[in-house]
Amino acid sequence: MYVCSCFGVTEAQVQRHVDDGACTPRQVASACKAGTDCGSCVRRIQALLGRGASSRRDLAGRGEPALTGFEDTAAAAA
Ligand code: FES
Repeated sequence: MYVCSCFGVTEAQVQRHVDDGACTPRQVASACKAGTDCGSCVRRIQALLGRGASSRRDLAGRGEPALTGFEDTAAAAA
């Protein structure tokens, strides 16, 4: 299901960015542009962040990088 129709970003794609450490809508936008055009999807992105977001502190505590792969995803979406 699409979360962001402006950029064709699905819920699964947003969830993947959340799983990779995105903690804010801005970080999701950096990864895939979702929320950067009309903005109508930002509340939905916030809901996804609230559901599954791991804090950077939690990730760091597990020895995992807090932000990974965003550059590659952003480049592929461009
Ligand atoms: S639906 Fe996401 S920016 Fe428009």
